[in-house]
Amino acid sequence: MKTAVRIREDLELKNPIITASGTAAYGEELSEFLDLSVLGGFVTKGLSIRPKRGNPTPRIAETPCGMINSIGLENVGIPVFLKEKLPYLNQFSTPVVVNFFGETEDDYVIAAEMLSIEGIAALEMNVSCPNIKRGGIEFGKDPESLHTLVKKVREVTKKPLIVKLPPLVTDIVVIARAAVSAGADVLTCCNTFPAMVIDENLRRPLLGNVTGGLSGPAIKPVVLKLVRDVSQSVHVPIIASGGASTYRDVIQFLLAGATAVEIGSESLRNPLCFLEIIKGIEEYMERFRMHSVSEITGTLEIV
Ligand SMILES: Cc1cc2nc3c(=O)[nH]c(=O)nc-3n(C[C@H](O)[C@H](O)[C@H](O)COP(=O)(O)O)c2cc1C
Repeated sequence: MKTAVRIREDLELKNPIITASGTAAYGEELSEFLDLSVLGGFVTKGLSIRPKRGNPTPRIAETPCGMINSIGLENVGIPVFLKEKLPYLNQFSTPVVVNFFGETEDDYVIAAEMLSIEGIAALEMNVSCPNIKRGGIEFGKDPESLHTLVKKVREVTKKPLIVKLPPLVTDIVVIARAAVSAGADVLTCCNTFPAMVIDENLRRPLLGNVTGGLSGPAIKPVVLKLVRDVSQSVHVPIIASGGASTYRDVIQFLLAGATAVEIGSESLRNPLCFLEIIKGIEEYMERFRMHSVSEITGTLEIV
């Protein structure tokens, strides 16, 4: 297929469009709108070894050109996911990527071991959630801690290992290099931006957790630059995540160096956007007589 992209030698996606973690849960609701088999890949909600309750409500607020969330990584836990959710997702001919996180290094290692089974195509390590007290971004913002963590996880899994980077760090390139030198096969660039919304009349934050993570079109130009910076500094495929809502955004991320693109917030507004975006990419490729997505990736022309 013309739109196919390769994430690792053993993992090809039929197109570069993937769900973003946490915005399509475990697929049941999204599949009421479209056949999940059309997607290049499906990324699950972030999972932990034990079930996790999320943050106090409200957990979502709208912002100009975006949204802010503080779900707090609520999830069913890996054992329930494997028993009840994975078989459902495996009905579709779409690679299942499991996003996972932990509070300690051991949590990550145990989770990666539990997830290294048939039916799971790749693992996406979340070291960048701004909405939890322990774990998450604590690992992602320090290159040494990240290197140690990724190395430990790499030792226990042969699955394609994707590391999802935090956007707000002193130098994302240093963080990206630390992940790759420890064995990451792919990088997702990136998670939500720490942010907050205040109700001036109530004099209170709108989110129960006070702060959350900003996503949607508001962050796209910033993420576009991060994707370019990261893709120029490491030699692994990059998955862009941050504000893509149309096929044009996706093409721009590919030009900046991404191999695939995750769609999150936009799918909450319009679950059919996946179909529109995939069609748009096909038409773009026809228009420019392209035979492969690799003719787009990283081909930004600087004059
Ligand atoms: C409601 C919501 C829940 C999310 N949950 C997770 C999660 O569990 N794990 C994770 O790594 N990222 C999570 N994210 C971040 C998204 O996967 C994505 O990286 C981010 O929203 C930027 O993409 P977008 O602008 O297309 O939404 C979540 C985002 C939203 C909006």
